[in-house]
Amino acid sequence: MLQVDGVAFQRADGARVRHILRDVSFRLGPGQVAAVWGPSGSGKTTLLNLIGGLLRPDAGAIRVVVEGADDRSPEVAVHALSRAERLRYRRRHVGFVFQFLNLLPTLTVEENVLLPLELNGLRDRADEALGRLGPLGIADLARRFPDALSGGEQQRVAIARALAHAPALVLADEPTGNLDADNAVRVADCLWEQVRDARAGLVVATHNERLAERADTVVRLRQ
Ligand SMILES: Nc1ncnc2c1ncn2[C@@H]1O[C@H](COP(=O)(O)OP(=O)(O)OP(=O)(O)O)[C@@H](O)[C@H]1O
Ligand SMILES: [Mg+2]
Repeated sequence: MLQVDGVAFQRADGARVRHILRDVSFRLGPGQVAAVWGPSGSGKTTLLNLIGGLLRPDAGAIRVVVEGADDRSPEVAVHALSRAERLRYRRRHVGFVFQFLNLLPTLTVEENVLLPLELNGLRDRADEALGRLGPLGIADLARRFPDALSGGEQQRVAIARALAHAPALVLADEPTGNLDADNAVRVADCLWEQVRDARAGLVVATHNERLAERADTVVRLRQ
């Protein structure tokens, strides 16, 4: 359901060109998880941003099956989309858990989680989306604003938000970075369950060995 072929990305660095990613390839089937593993600065966030259509690759192809994942399912060539098409693809089909979370400070927990449904005209799925606050251990926090939450609580809100609209692809950047071992397992269970049940795909950038061990495939990046 996700196919990454020979992806390269570079940035101008003064007079030089910095090759941030070179020739990255991997595949992910429906219901599967890929862990992106590598030291700080190796390009993990960049790779997620490319798959999610926030950046465009300089070479290579990124293809995502956005519904159903059978022979006749629609496939999106993410690398070839226009800016407006990338926005639509991202809004409808991608759930992002950003490394720095990006919760909206003027919205409550509940409003943050429901935002993807608002943007997609899917308000009828609100109960299902808010139902995930329980398994994530944050049901009591629905009326709070993000600045009244701990880092780990904010992280779990960001995960509930990424899953709200049942996206084809969940891209999670260090989703357990702020969590103790028990809550890391909780979050991983929630992400894995969603992906398995929806036959979606999950790409998770992580330094957490336990998380990487649970993945179907590990994408190793070098600096
Ligand atoms: N806009 C930019 N211009 C130039 N270089 C950039 C830009 N954005 C990122 N980089 C560089 O690209 C490299 C990869 O960055 P990226 O954020 O993808 O790494 P990462 O693997 O996610 O690191 P971390 O584990 O610290 O989050 C870094 O060396 C970073 O400095
Ligand atoms: Mg990063």
